[in-house]
Amino acid sequence: MRYLTIALAKGRLAKNTMELFEKIGISCEEMKDKTTRKLIFVNEEYKLKFFLAKAGDVPTYVEYGAADLGVVGKDTILEEGRKLLEVVDLNMGKCKMCVCGPKSAEELLKHHEMIRVASKYPNIAKDYFYNKKHQTVEIIKLNGSVELAPIVGLSEVIVDIVETGATLRENGLTVLEEICPLSARMVVNHVSMQMENERIMKLIADLKNVLS
Ligand code: PRP
Repeated sequence: MRYLTIALAKGRLAKNTMELFEKIGISCEEMKDKTTRKLIFVNEEYKLKFFLAKAGDVPTYVEYGAADLGVVGKDTILEEGRKLLEVVDLNMGKCKMCVCGPKSAEELLKHHEMIRVASKYPNIAKDYFYNKKHQTVEIIKLNGSVELAPIVGLSEVIVDIVETGATLRENGLTVLEEICPLSARMVVNHVSMQMENERIMKLIADLKNVLS
């Protein structure tokens, strides 16, 4: 039996994912060692290999087959636009992708004004404004703390993740339009799904079972 390789988005999501795997009897003790510098962790019993990657790289590893499976947020899946199969909604890290800004920007959106949109997710922003709303906008890519943009006058609105809404509230901004709900998903490489169908389907069924 060959190893199945699973790419996890490092951070809280990886930790929560491993807790979920433990519920279906798959554990990985060596991953719990906080001092380790190892990148790959093995579960010999189930012939599984886990590795931690930057969230944005997980879809890339899975599309190329360097990982058979991956666990990553829907935001990253949409932004990266890789060819993969999305098989399970893990119902973790639930939040929303939204257009946000000061209340005054509402009118600009309503009248399809040529506005500037700052985002860590330029592809999601582009798809929403160009393909869904048919509104021409200028997209400005940022790398974080995107809420700053409308405050300092870089853009009229932002496209960003809203979880509790606290960041918006504390900065005088609000949700203007909801783009889509987000949560962590399990993704699978197309070829792996065919070659290792039985093992992968069993894993998916077990996960769905503990999730329901
Ligand atoms: C995310 C997101 C918002 C915030 C939303 O940022 O980009 O800024 O969390 O959460 P809230 O609705 O609960 O306030 P993150 O903490 O990932 O950092 P970033 O600003 O560097 O993207």
